[in-house]
Amino acid sequence: MAYAFEAEGLVKRFGATTALAGVDLAAPEGTVLGVLGPNGAGKTTAVRILATLLRPDEGRATVAGLDVVHQAPQVRRQIGLTGQYASVDEDLTGTENLVLIGRLLDLSKRDALARARHLLGQFDLTEAADRVAKHYSGGMRRRLDLAASLVGRPSVIYLDEPTTGLDPAKRDDVWRLVRNLVADGTTVLLTTQYLEEADALADDITVIDHGRVIAHGTPAELKRVVGGQTLVVRPADPAHLDTVRGLLSQVSTGKNIDSPARGVLSVPVDDDSAMTTVVRRLDDAGIAVTELSLRLPSLDEVFFSLTGSREQIEQESAA
Ligand SMILES: Nc1ncnc2c1ncn2[C@@H]1O[C@H](COP(=O)(O)OP(=O)(O)OP(=O)(O)O)[C@@H](O)[C@H]1O
Ligand SMILES: [Mg+2]
Repeated sequence: MAYAFEAEGLVKRFGATTALAGVDLAAPEGTVLGVLGPNGAGKTTAVRILATLLRPDEGRATVAGLDVVHQAPQVRRQIGLTGQYASVDEDLTGTENLVLIGRLLDLSKRDALARARHLLGQFDLTEAADRVAKHYSGGMRRRLDLAASLVGRPSVIYLDEPTTGLDPAKRDDVWRLVRNLVADGTTVLLTTQYLEEADALADDITVIDHGRVIAHGTPAELKRVVGGQTLVVRPADPAHLDTVRGLLSQVSTGKNIDSPARGVLSVPVDDDSAMTTVVRRLDDAGIAVTELSLRLPSLDEVFFSLTGSREQIEQESAA
């Protein structure tokens, strides 16, 4: 399998902080790798190493077979980077920002302008093209930043939390764009705080925590690792919530009953028989429901289960 990028055993320390303690990451060409992890896990540090902005203390990484340390200039020609913090020049207009990048990438004036116009159109920024970026809204800046990373037609693109702060409609636009890029053969490394986003876009997911990989697999594989199913009940009359809660506690073998939304209760269950039991007991109690379902864990639940249990292990080993 040809990997668009591949990192092995990345270690990075900042003084006493070990940001990466031996991380492996890889994505086959034309796929999306989602990198998930809580704040401070090391996601941005890994992206910066793959983008040649930071040298690893140990380990190695290649992009399109090129070494990120020894062949950094060649690597830079392959990649596009959208930082977690926008990197556009506030005092330049949208067009000027993109033309500047095009010129830095050795495009002729004419080609740089054509590329800028094309990208501004793609990102719905044509009307704002001649306004300085400091007067853009947060969402517009985010899109300009994304457009900036695409000027050089990169074969690999790193998106570090590309949709943080975007409203749902603009987030959908970014998702569509990522899918289009991948359809064109681009490989994407996506870090995100939104598990739903990783679920929607990523072919593979690497979960990192405290600088280490704690899980890797497709979204479906990760859900299976955590296993179990969740029973969800919404009583027709919210006044019955407490009764339903009591009833669920009888089938849940001591697991936490959660309320994922107002008027809804959910509980992890071991097998399908819990459903039958709950239906029978609801019927006995004369409680009508508007929702009753058994579902696989969401990626959110997988994530909390993975990172939570790790913290527990650490607390236990520290004790
Ligand atoms: N330049 C730096 N100097 C010192 N410490 C740093 C530096 N960059 C990162 N760190 C530390 O390394 C660890 C990993 O940071 P990193 O930014 O990679 O995390 P992250 O997973 O991107 O987090 P977030 O979700 O908050 O963006 C953190 O403890 C952070 O404080
Ligand atoms: Mg980060």
